[in-house]
Amino acid sequence: MSVPFILAPMATLSHRAYRELAEDFGGCDMSFAEMIGAAPFLNGGRFETWYADPLPRPDRLVYQLVGGDAQLLARAAAILDGRGTAGIDINMGCSAPDIVRTGGGVRWMADEAAARSMIGGVRSAVKGRLSVKLRLGADENLARLVRFCLMLQEEGVEALTLHPRTASEKLKKSARWPFVGALRAELKIPVTGNGDVASASMLVERAKGPCDGVMIGRAAIREPWIFSAARELEGATDAPGALGAPGKLPQEIDLEAVCLRFLDLLARHQPPEFWETRARRFFFYFLDNLKWSHHVKTLVNREPGLGGMGAVLRAHFRENPEERWLKIGTLPTTNP
Ligand SMILES: Cc1cc2nc3c(=O)[nH]c(=O)nc-3n(C[C@H](O)[C@H](O)[C@H](O)COP(=O)(O)O)c2cc1C
Repeated sequence: MSVPFILAPMATLSHRAYRELAEDFGGCDMSFAEMIGAAPFLNGGRFETWYADPLPRPDRLVYQLVGGDAQLLARAAAILDGRGTAGIDINMGCSAPDIVRTGGGVRWMADEAAARSMIGGVRSAVKGRLSVKLRLGADENLARLVRFCLMLQEEGVEALTLHPRTASEKLKKSARWPFVGALRAELKIPVTGNGDVASASMLVERAKGPCDGVMIGRAAIREPWIFSAARELEGATDAPGALGAPGKLPQEIDLEAVCLRFLDLLARHQPPEFWETRARRFFFYFLDNLKWSHHVKTLVNREPGLGGMGAVLRAHFRENPEERWLKIGTLPTTNP
């Protein structure tokens, strides 16, 4: 086995229902929950218990906190730290305007002194593993990035994830993986790389390093089996079970069964207010496994409820039986 395979934090996507689905295929070594806003969490926000649901594998779950207020981050971290999960992560990578405006996410990277003080406070509040997920910063400047990360290391951060894009870049421009190795060479703490891993074979390649872990976002939504498929490619003989069948991953995936299973998991593990949006977000990626993905996504998006979405999907697979079974290894290898 190579380095750990890690599910990326993704708001609206890396919730419990998805993690349960991924677990059907053997799961991964570590999963990040959706980011949790420190302020709404402390204020008892209506949906915070859903964001902070640590199942199905609390021992492998990392809570990610986001926010621009150092004290609130430390207080929220102290509460979440007591829940027996795999650690607390501070989001220094999110570039969404509403997060940056309040001083959170990648905004921390623009003020090293403030970031040092905040991380010091969170470190004192957290007994468990503390990590940070971050970007390159304002531009491509390795020396500045290394200095910032040495500061984090000095303040007691135990692990980093680098998503090597600049603060303002969207996901279109490619992630610059050479920065992962270059940063790692300067630090004592582990550095996980993240960005644009689009297939199980690419995951295997990235895992060869230099890096201490590979984090996968969008491709893990399209292929919830990507982690086990990559382990099998690496030659691991203990690759875990798939939907209902302990043992190795099946040669073929029943896409209809996965779609319907996900809808069922959503209804069980997410509040009704989230059902439709979360279903659409998931299918936006997952249905790329189909030849007629655009058409099916349009049909699914027209449906106001989970029942209707299920009916549309069942009808599609009934009318296009050749679409139902996906051979592992024939997945698209373009960027996610
Ligand atoms: C819908 C969506 C939501 C995201 N939410 C978060 C988040 O809550 N916290 C975070 O650090 N990154 C978030 N990200 C960024 C991902 O964690 C990851 O860095 C990015 O998608 C690149 O990885 P990938 O190419 O494997 O998808 C999000 C990305 C997407 C697409």
